[in-house]
Order: sequence, then C-alpha cells, then structure tokens
Amino acid sequence: MSTQIHLDNSFLCKQVEDTDEVNPEFEALLDYLKYNRGCDLTSYKRSSLIRQVHKQMQSINIDTYQSYLEYLQGHPQEYLTLVDRVLINVTSFFRDREAWDQLAAQIIPKIIATKQPNEPIRVWSAGCATGQEIYSLLILFAEALGIEACLQRVRCFATDADEAALLQARQATYTSQDIIGIPPELLEKYFVQTKTGYVFHPELRRTIVFSVHDLTHNAPISKIDLLVCRNVLIYFNPQAQASVMARFHFALKNTGFLFLGKAESLLNSKQIFMPVNLTQRIYVKRQRLELDDYLSISPQPHEQQATNLLVIQNYLWENAFETSSCAHLAIDANSCLLYFNQQARTLFGLSYDDWKRPFQELELAKLISFNTFIKALRSRGKLTVLKNVEWTTQEGIKHFDIEISSVVTTSKHLLGATLTFIEKNDYQQLNEELESTRLELARVSKILEKTKSELSIAYKELESAHKELEIVEAFCM
Ligand SMILES: C[S@@+](CC[C@H](N)C(=O)[O-])C[C@H]1O[C@@H](n2cnc3c(N)ncnc32)[C@H](O)[C@@H]1O
Repeated sequence: MSTQIHLDNSFLCKQVEDTDEVNPEFEALLDYLKYNRGCDLTSYKRSSLIRQVHKQMQSINIDTYQSYLEYLQGHPQEYLTLVDRVLINVTSFFRDREAWDQLAAQIIPKIIATKQPNEPIRVWSAGCATGQEIYSLLILFAEALGIEACLQRVRCFATDADEAALLQARQATYTSQDIIGIPPELLEKYFVQTKTGYVFHPELRRTIVFSVHDLTHNAPISKIDLLVCRNVLIYFNPQAQASVMARFHFALKNTGFLFLGKAESLLNSKQIFMPVNLTQRIYVKRQRLELDDYLSISPQPHEQQATNLLVIQNYLWENAFETSSCAHLAIDANSCLLYFNQQARTLFGLSYDDWKRPFQELELAKLISFNTFIKALRSRGKLTVLKNVEWTTQEGIKHFDIEISSVVTTSKHLLGATLTFIEKNDYQQLNEELESTRLELARVSKILEKTKSELSIAYKELESAHKELEIVEAFCM
C-alpha cells in the first residue's frame, strides 16, 4: 500500500478548480465506488464532490487520488467515512425559520382545507438526514390538527441515502445543541428530556416510516400532499436535478406542494411546478403542461426499452466474461489492469488489490515478453497469438495459447487490450508434441531420402569410373 504522506495542497487545489477537465484518476475512484461498493456518485456536482473527497484525503494525509483509491481498497471502513462526508447531512430543526413560519401559516392550512375531516395526509421528507426536518413537519401538523387527529391522519415518510444518518433519525434523541431552533413551548410539548438527551414524542414518532432511498435511482413515493426536499438538490448536477424533479412531479397529488431549500430554485428546470411563495421556495404541481414539459416527465417506452435491452446485453456479456472457462483480462490504454474474470483470479492469483496495477508489475506478465506485449498493443485492432507458452505453478507446468487483441475506436484511438489465455490440457499438449515430432520426423526422412539419392548417384558415378579404369587398363596391357 503506497500512501504518500507529503501533502501537496497546490496540486489538490488545482484538481478542485479544474472541474470541467476529466481527471482519469478521479474517474477511476468514482468507478471503483460505483462498481465495487455500489455507490454511484456520478450524479453529484463535480466541484463539491471533489472538494469533499479532497478534505477526506487531507484528513488522512493522502495527496493523490491513486493512493487514496489504494487506501480505500485496503481499509473497508474508509468507504463509510467517505460517504458520510460526501453526503453532507448538516441539518437542524426549523432550518431557515421564516420559511417554516410561512409553511405553517399558508400551506398546511390549505392542505387541511382541501381534505375531508378524516382523510389521510401524506408527507415526505426526502433527504431527511438525522430527522430534524420530519420532526419539525410533524410538530407543525400536530399544532394545526391537534395531536390526536395528527396521529390518526398524518402519514410521514422520511428517506435518505445515508443509512447512518437514518439510524440517528429513528432514535429521535437530540442533544441540547440540536434543539436550539425549537421554540421553548414546542420543545416542552413534543420532547421529553432524558439522561440520553431530548426524545421526540414516541407516539407521534410512530407515524413516520424511515427508509433508505436514493433520489436519483429509486422510484418515488406516491400520492404525497407535501414533499419537503431541502438542501439536497444543490449537490446534484443539472441532469440529476431534472430527473429528480420529474419524479417529484409524479410523487405529488395534483394539489400537492413542494418545499425546497433556500438556495434551491427551479429556474433551470422545466415549468412543471408553479411558485406559490417564490421567496420561501414553495411550489405547487402544475397540471396543464406544455407538450415539451409533458414529454420531459413522461416515461419514454422506446428509450426505456432500449436502455433495458442495453442493461440486459451488458449483463449477459459480463456474465459470459466472468464465467468463461478461459482466463480473460482487459487492460486500459496505460496498460493497467481493468477487468479480470474468475478463471484469471484462480489461475494467476489476481485479487481486487491488483485492480489498476500496471500489467508489467503482475507476475503473469512474465508470460509475455515486453517487446511482444508492446507490439501487440500497437497492432491497432489486430490479433496477436502466442503459441504454447509455458507457466510454472506450484501444481506443475501449464501451457497456454495467449491471444492479445488491442481494442481501438473507429478513429483508431487505442482504448486498451483484451488478453485470453487458452489453457491446454495434457491430451492437447501431447497431441501437439506428437504433431511436432511427426513433422520433425518427416523433415529428417526427407533429408535422408535426398542423401540416399545423392549417394546412389555418387555410387553410379564411381561404378562407371571404375569401368572406364578397367578399359584403360586392358588397352595398356
Ligand atoms: C444537507 S442535508 C439536508 C438535510 C435536510 N433536508 C435539511 O435541509 O436540513 C442533505 C441530505 O441529503 C442526503 N442525500 C444526498 N444524496 C442523496 C440522494 N441521492 N438520495 C437521497 N438523499 C440524499 C444526504 O445524505 C443528506 O442527509
């Protein structure tokens, strides 16, 4: 594990500023989190994401993404710390008090007024962090309806992508620092002070369903009267924001309200919501949509089908690659190991620690001479086959045919290469040896044949010379 200790801030600051530039090392880090830890951070704004990763790296004195990736691979707990930092679950009760006052004065009475006396009211806090937001909402409904009616009618959903934050939210217990934003009369009415802290009203607490939910990936909760999603969208890139907005449009009832954070606006989003109180970021679902807006939020069957098909195809290819009886590897354009299948792991002892290692550093690189390897890479899409390569293992000697195929784009830009190791069993090996002996025998017997005919010519020449000699001798007598 090579963790460098020298902190070079200028290097990292430059990386943070250059958000438009794709940094391959940072992309590799995101790929690792996505494919190995199931944590897709690609919907987040790069600038703040890089800043958070940078802070985390600084806290453990690591100064390159490559070293940090290695550190993540060797320290499973680090992943949780990173996610915790990246998801930023800063929150408080009645955060931005004025907005909550407006919600209590304008919106909650409207929601109640449009309902029948016993009709349920559904509220969703999306990105609820450690729970202060949903408890603030519940207090406002309890104040408006009375605790009894609130218990009967209000159903709350509180979701977040951060499991650790949700765990705290479920406990509903807060420190004296946490409760600072709660007006004293509400604190007294809805909290009990215990040894462990201020505990929220247990019965009201049971009206809330907490669950892990990723706004950018999971299906929305439906039939919502009030959707509160504050200080979450600011972290998403514009595409992710638009897709979450379309989900929110679906989640809300026709009369439903959307309450966003102070720094969040819908200016860039399609006009699928109308402002009710622009200053406090309170919106209502727009029902008559322009065609463009309608299309932007409607499911698109063909595209969806195409995407599904692509996902299925990818899955099948991945499965075929993973379960193949041959060992397969793929390397990137820098000759670093990108993929390897089960058989490669077994045969060559590869593990996830080898991911992104330069191919030449791997033990199995000894099978292919450096020159051959470079030549094969430069062959621009052609297949290079190495026959009968020997590999000595603890179990004995194995033989492979190795196929190296460089992978290029249509404009011949090198993307990497795939390597296939076709292992030969004893029968094939024996057969091949037999074949080569047979060829050698044929070659030797050809030479023998040729020598024999040359000998016979020489013998004949000798014989005629002998006869000539005899004639000459007879004349001389
Ligand atoms: C700054 S906090 C806001 C908390 C609260 N809404 C507020 O305004 O006080 C942002 C929250 O969004 C959550 N979050 C980030 N990405 C998310 C995602 N993709 N899906 C759901 N929640 C997410 C974080 O875990 C964090 O708890």
